[in-house]
Amino acid sequence: MNNKEKVMLTGVRPSGNLTLGNYLGAIKNFVTRQKQYKSYIFVADLHAITSPRDPADLRAAIDDCMAMYLACGVDPEQTIIFRQSDVMEHGVLGFIMTFQTHMGELSRMTQFKLKSQSMGKHGIETGLFVYPPLMAADILLYNTAIVPVGLDQQQHVELTRDLSQRFNKRYGKTFDDPDVYIAPVGNKILNLQNLSEKMNKSDDERNMGTIFLRDDLKLARKKIMSAVTDSESVVRFDEEAKPGISNLISILAATTGESIDSIEKRFAGVGYGDFKRAVADAVCELLAKIQANYARFKQTDVLNAILDDGATKARVVASETLNRAKLALGLK
Ligand code: TYM
Repeated sequence: MNNKEKVMLTGVRPSGNLTLGNYLGAIKNFVTRQKQYKSYIFVADLHAITSPRDPADLRAAIDDCMAMYLACGVDPEQTIIFRQSDVMEHGVLGFIMTFQTHMGELSRMTQFKLKSQSMGKHGIETGLFVYPPLMAADILLYNTAIVPVGLDQQQHVELTRDLSQRFNKRYGKTFDDPDVYIAPVGNKILNLQNLSEKMNKSDDERNMGTIFLRDDLKLARKKIMSAVTDSESVVRFDEEAKPGISNLISILAATTGESIDSIEKRFAGVGYGDFKRAVADAVCELLAKIQANYARFKQTDVLNAILDDGATKARVVASETLNRAKLALGLK
């Protein structure tokens, strides 16, 4: 099988403004490979209602995510782009996959453990608990071979593999087992102000720990210049001892393609101020490109046409897979 017959798929939850972490951890790796695979990217909008959300904000975030895909280089000629909720099969297969999953498996998911801690007092929402099997359905519906994601989603893709194998064992071969693709650099960009957290989406652009893809360039530069570092003043990659500088080295490496080794050599003897300026230059150059494209793609009629076309194509494959699963289960 050549790669063009193999399927690559990924998605982003429209739960706030997209970040540099989303780009470097997932979208960039998808874009650079989209020609080699039969490629699908979708807006994971059903995943954005695991917690209550203002409907107008959600609508805007969905449009924003779509326009961002295009602005980041997703090419509708190469890639099927769609919105998850436009393809009903996601919900049905998600339901079926939930029933293949053990409570213990879901309780062990790191994302669940992290997020449920902060929800504890008000009661933990079921959506947060059961979204991994929906994610499994997203992946399995398209016979996906490779899923480029950031490190935080690796466990969910591994669960997808387990569920696929469990289903195939119980009911006969129905799904293909997907592999995760984690980029060697940039797979976990940390919050610039709080190095114990990853850089997360949010609706607050003044959030100094997160670079948003639509940040004003001056603000993005300010965020990088005020990133937390250490007092050693040596540009050296050491995630344990120097998480702040290592994070900035990763950002520079993933943004430009330069190796960590070469960055360390190039900045030997250079102070943190100059190093941060170089990181800010590279990030601002990237953001400027993305933002210029974004302005072109933000027209909703163009987006809607692409989404309609994408959903039509996605439905064909998704309905075939769902039919296969129903036949296997005895529902047909
Ligand atoms: P989401 O929306 O949280 O994140 C989208 C993608 O960005 C990656 N990412 C990061 N990578 C590096 N550093 C960071 N700080 C960082 N923050 C986020 C995530 O790992 C992810 O790849 N459940 C998924 C969406 C989803 C999905 C799917 C993905 C639903 N169905 C099927 C792949 C396949 C999510 O919430 O991603």
